[in-house]
This record gives sequence, C-alpha cells and structure tokens, in this order.
Amino acid sequence: MEPIMVLELDGRGPRYAQLTRAIVNAVSTGVLRPGTRLPPTRQLAEALDCSRNIVLLAYEQLILEGYLDARARAGTFVSTGLPSTPTTGDRAGPRTRKRIAALSRGGRRLTNAARHAWSITRRTRRFEIDFMYGQCEPDARIVGQLRREFARAMRDPSAFGYGHPAGDEGLRAEIAQRLRGTRGIMRTTDQIVITNGAQQALDICARLLLGDGDRALVEDPGYEAARAAFAAAGATVVGVPVDAEGIDPSALPRRAARVRLLYVTPSHQFPTGAILSAARRHRLRTWARARGAYVIEDDYDGELRYHGLPIKALAGLDDGSDVNSIYCGTFAKSLFPSVRLAYLALPETLVPAFESAKWLADRGSSLLLQRLVRDLMATGEYDRHIRRMLRRFTSRRDALARALERHLGGDVRIAGDAGGMHLVAWLPSLDPIDIDRLVAACADLDVGVYSIARHALKPLRTGGLILGYGLVDDAAIDEGVRRLAAAYERVSGRDSR
Ligand SMILES: Cc1ncc(COP(=O)(O)O)c(C=O)c1O
Repeated sequence: MEPIMVLELDGRGPRYAQLTRAIVNAVSTGVLRPGTRLPPTRQLAEALDCSRNIVLLAYEQLILEGYLDARARAGTFVSTGLPSTPTTGDRAGPRTRKRIAALSRGGRRLTNAARHAWSITRRTRRFEIDFMYGQCEPDARIVGQLRREFARAMRDPSAFGYGHPAGDEGLRAEIAQRLRGTRGIMRTTDQIVITNGAQQALDICARLLLGDGDRALVEDPGYEAARAAFAAAGATVVGVPVDAEGIDPSALPRRAARVRLLYVTPSHQFPTGAILSAARRHRLRTWARARGAYVIEDDYDGELRYHGLPIKALAGLDDGSDVNSIYCGTFAKSLFPSVRLAYLALPETLVPAFESAKWLADRGSSLLLQRLVRDLMATGEYDRHIRRMLRRFTSRRDALARALERHLGGDVRIAGDAGGMHLVAWLPSLDPIDIDRLVAACADLDVGVYSIARHALKPLRTGGLILGYGLVDDAAIDEGVRRLAAAYERVSGRDSR
C-alpha cells in the first residue's frame, strides 16, 4: 500500500508519537488526502517493523484529534472534514491558498479535536419525536422564577462589575454546602471555582494539568468533549473499557508512565449509565494515589437519581484532604444548558492555578447569572425544582421502559436507568453494524434515536441506542418506541414480538 512508503519517522521520542507526527505531517502537506484509506494496522506495523499496538495507539489518537475516521469494517481513512491541502504537484492558485488558515500545530490539533467531538452530537435535523439526550425543555416554573429574580438582581449596582474569577462568594458557599449534604464532598467555599459549563472546567483542567505527550485516561465508551479537551492540550488519550459496573479498574495501566489524569463519570457513566460500584471506587482512588494521578470526576447529572439514597461522590470518599481528586458538577442538566454555569471542587493546592486560568480565560463567569442561581439555591427554590424534575423524569423513564418492553420485548436490554435523563437500550440480537441502518430507518419515520457507538473509541461488541427523555413527553414516548420497533423489524428482517 503506497502511503506506507512516505511515512517517515523522525526518531524523536516514543514510536507511537513519531508515527502520529508522521501521519499529521503527511496530512498537512497533502501527501495523504482527505478520504485516503490508511493501511491496516498489521500491515503498517510490519512495514515499520514495530508492534501493532504502536500503530493502533497512533490511529486512535488521530481519530480523537479528528485527522482520521474509523469506518466499521471498511478501515481507517483520512478525515473528509479536513481541508484539502494542495501538494507541490498541484497548480493551486493564490485564491485557494488564501483560504487555508495559518494555524500553529497546537491550533490545528485543537481545531481538529473539537470539530470531531462537536460533530458527534451536533444536531443537524429536528425530529417530530426526538430521543436526543443531554437536553430537556426548560421547566416553566423555574423560568418564571428566574424572570422575577433577574429584575431583582438588576437593582443591585454591584452586579454590573467584574467579580472574583473563582466566582460569586455566595454561590460558591451554597455549592460547598450542597456538596457536603448531598454528595459527601468536604470542600470549603474557597475550594470551589465557578466555570462556564463543565466544558470550560475540563478545558482548564487540560490546560493546567496536561502537556505534550502526557497521557490522559478516559472511559471507553465515554464523553468525547472531555477527550477533545485533553487531545487539544497535546495529551495522548487512552481509553479504558467500561462494563455494567462502570470503568474497569483492572484495565488501568499498572506502570503509569506519564499518566497525569483519569477522567470518570462514576455516578451515571456517560453514555452507558452504569453506576460505579463501591469496590471499584476504592480501587480507582488507590490506583490514582499510588501514581500521583489526578482523578477528574464529572458528576454531570448526579442530582437526578430515581431510587435509593444519593450515592456518595468519588470525591466524598475521604475527609476532603485528597490532593488527587477534582470534582466537577454542572447546572446544564439540573437547570438548562444555556445557563453555562458549572463548578469545580478542588484540592487546596490547585485553587490558585485554577483561579488564574479562569481569570485568563474570561475574567470570571457572568455575575448576574451566578447571583440568580445563588438566590434560587438560598431560597430553597432550587431544591423544589429538583424534586419536580425527579417526578417528571421518573414518569418519563417508566413510560420509556414500559414502551420498550411492549414494543420490542425480548429483543431489548435496558440499562443505565437509575438516574439522569437517558437510558441505554442494548439490542443484542442486531449486528452492531446494523445500528446505523436502524437509526436511519427511524429518521425516515421522523424519530431521532442515537447509536451508543458514536461515543466509543473501540468498536462495541453489542450495539445499542441512547434514548434521552428530556425532550419527549409520556405520550410521544410510546408512539416513538412504536415507530422504533417498526424500524427494528425492517432492519432485522423479522417480527420482534
Ligand atoms: C458527560 C457530560 N459531562 C458534562 C456535560 C455538560 O457539560 P456543560 O456543563 O458544559 O454543558 C455533558 C453534557 O451533555 C455530559 O454528557
């Protein structure tokens, strides 16, 4: 296969990093063009006289960064989303050249990583019935409450200036108190930093904690926006498998050279919904402590739990003295995404660095919005709102489970439904490769469903759908699942009941 001939390794650093650079170089100079198929990993490993793992690692990293695309059973290709770079053999006129932005290597890496991650969940179409996850329509009562609070907050002249970059003191105090009471996290007000969404929190973590060639461990399948932030900071992102109990600690590398952090969603694993067992929580913590690695715990929908007591956060396993634990919570699910407010609970040692990074990024989140949320919390309105959401979503979750049972029966295995706003419908009888056909067949019936595989680094052995119930009411749920079952019949070629 020709491209092998042109990949020149520069002999600097680990071989997977050399190979990654060589491929990026070949793509950037137009030697490898968008849409070109790369050699199979075994073949390239033979040609380069290295282990297949090295090639696998390089391909995985470049898929994350958006340079390459993996297509099931077809191979690995240079991403078609990349601008086509003219080779020296091309007669590219000045107009073509002007359209290529002169980005730094880091800038290109950032653009590609973000573009790839963004494309995964970017909504390109609206459906009559949409099981999109991670979103819900705003609660009318909380919107009314906010409107009234907003008018009041505007009367305070101090709400119009710059605040402290770490956030409004009152909001941070409310959050610290809530984290102690509901998640068992013993951090003080000074250890809370407010950010613009969990995404900014992850981006700041990446900027402060990761450098070129460092390794960041993530769940696989997992949250692509976290992976993108880590890849953009120059880290090599390594997937750790997830099963029904969450991330598998026995798959964590024993010798963790340059492993700087581990990113996890223990309360409701994204996307499988698994709850990390207590035994595994302790093993993760022991593993991280022994290696001095940070554990970033993303508790994105931890407020929404449908039965049993709230589970203690991973960051709540000790008395607050753990120097490796970084906890992140967000108001994107409990209120709505556009509020763009989230918070970090940090070890004391990290606070000055995070405050500085936050100041540099944007001087601090909107003071007005922070005060609105502070007042919602202080008046107990936030708690009442969460209780209303729990009632509404319990009813929807139960309606969804009943509908799946009714229309798909034994062909579906429901998982991850103990919390949050989505569950997973595993479809073990369907070839995983047919899930994309099922998604397309549902789209023909004006129903939006989403394959879990889009969040995976390695191909999944069983295919499944993530079904969100934030945007569908009980009646639409039944009709949506009825259409899903019709599409399933069409794709699987048999009656599912
Ligand atoms: C795993 C995970 N973390 C965090 C978030 C929320 O991020 P943000 O607060 O930036 O909206 C999401 C949103 O879908 C998510 O799925």
